[in-house]
Amino acid sequence: MHIDPLEKKWLYITFGMVGLFLGAIFISALISGIHPPSNVETIDSARLHLSEEFAEDNLGVKIQSDGSIRVTMVAGRYGFFPRHITLPADTTITFRWASIDVLHGVHMPMTNMSTMVVPGYVAEVTTEFPKPGDYPMLCNEYCGTGHDFMWSKVTVVDKQTWERQHPSSKGDES
Ligand code: CUA
Repeated sequence: MHIDPLEKKWLYITFGMVGLFLGAIFISALISGIHPPSNVETIDSARLHLSEEFAEDNLGVKIQSDGSIRVTMVAGRYGFFPRHITLPADTTITFRWASIDVLHGVHMPMTNMSTMVVPGYVAEVTTEFPKPGDYPMLCNEYCGTGHDFMWSKVTVVDKQTWERQHPSSKGDES
C-alpha cells in the first residue's frame, strides 16, 4: 500500500500528539495525584426534602468529631443553598451536593473546586482552602435562563478566627 510521504509525516505528528496528551494525563494522575472527583451514590432528586441529609433543616456546615468539616448543599435553579456559608482555612472539608432539578456544575475560581451535580446522584468533593477570603461558588453547566446568575458565596476565615467562633471545633464539646 502506498502512503504519500507528506501524509505519513502528518500521521506521525498526529500519533505523537496523542501520545503526548496521554502522557500528560498519566503523569498528572500518577505523579501529581490529579484525579477527577469520583463518587457514585444515587439519590432520588424529587424527594430530597424527605431525605435525612438533604432536608432543608440539615443543610449547611457541620463539624465532625475529628475536626474535619462536612458541608451539605442543594443545587437548584438558581443557586446553591444555603446561599452563604463560612468555612475555616487549612481544614479538610468534604462537600456534598444534590440537585433538585437539572444538571448543574460547581466551580470556585482560584481553588481546585470543580464538579458536576447530576440529578439523581450525590456529588462529593474533599478539599482544603489555603487562603482566607470571599469566594463565589458558580454554576458552570448551562441550566436555564438564570444560569448566569446562579452563584452563592463562600467565606473562608483563618483557622484561629474559626476556632474562636466555634470552640467545639477543637474536639472538646464542653
Ligand atoms: Cu445551575 Cu447553571
